[in-house]
Amino acid sequence: MINVVHTVKETRDQVNEWKAHGLSVGFVPTMGYLHEGHQSLIKKAVEENDKVVVSIFVNPMQFGPTEDFESYPRDLQADARLCEETGADLIFNPEAEEMYTDGFCSFVDMSGPTKELCGKSRPIHFRGVCTVVSKLFNIVTPDRAYFGQKDAQQLSVIRRMVRDLNIPVEIVGCPIVREKDGLAKSSRNTYLNEEERKAALILSKTIFMGQELVNNGMTDAKALINAMKENILTEPLAKIDYVEVVDFDDISIKDTIEGNTLVAMAVYIGKTRLIDNFIVTDKQLDTANKHGL
Ligand code: PAJ
Repeated sequence: MINVVHTVKETRDQVNEWKAHGLSVGFVPTMGYLHEGHQSLIKKAVEENDKVVVSIFVNPMQFGPTEDFESYPRDLQADARLCEETGADLIFNPEAEEMYTDGFCSFVDMSGPTKELCGKSRPIHFRGVCTVVSKLFNIVTPDRAYFGQKDAQQLSVIRRMVRDLNIPVEIVGCPIVREKDGLAKSSRNTYLNEEERKAALILSKTIFMGQELVNNGMTDAKALINAMKENILTEPLAKIDYVEVVDFDDISIKDTIEGNTLVAMAVYIGKTRLIDNFIVTDKQLDTANKHGL
């Protein structure tokens, strides 16, 4: 059975032993309740590193007071099985007290890229994410760390944090894994009842529609946002939090789709807030232009 440890010391001791043997270490930070999205990150980490650490920690600091920290789904046994089957070597599963010792008062607080998109509706979220991820990097000291494009703003923010603070780790971004019908896999999908699960398809349908519009030559951000919002509102259970077009590198609002562009949305289906996105790269735009679109 895969080794599950709960303390910083046990994690450090194991990683130090591997490093003493010259082994490379990949790291996948998660909040658990693992699904094929997380698994794709672990798989890639296993392919690219000698040893792989997965952290499972529902980080209280990144949840707002009215958010779902208490109800966030947890299943350590199933998670451990998935990690083992996928070839991970160690699970770091700390209690909150292990991560936030008495008197804890140091934070990683980023400006710029955390202000738009999810940062607007979840004002303390990225402070919690940056603080816990930098702590985890200091504990695990990985060569590479794997993040999903599912949380595209988070991926961009972590890349910025690592650059700004000279953290010696390579950040690897991984594509969004979807259900067969298109819905992006998420631990929060378990909150949806049958009717909401059907309604949630409006997110991926709108993402695919937006992608198509861009492929067909649409470059005006407002026009794209309006078309996508209109489509979302055809679903009565959907309530839009945001649909935005931003620069993928610094998450600043863009008027025109050019360069590395992130098209991102957050939509409530009933009480559940879901996110989805697509990224447009220079290369894709070149291809659209070559087709004379
Ligand atoms: P969590 O939501 O558990 O996600 C862990 C990692 O899995 C993130 O990098 C996320 O983008 C990735 N992921 C989730 N669903 C995915 C999907 N459908 N396809 C591809 N990747 C997917 O993100 C967090 O946890 C936390 O904020 C964390 C970074 C662990 C800090 O607490």
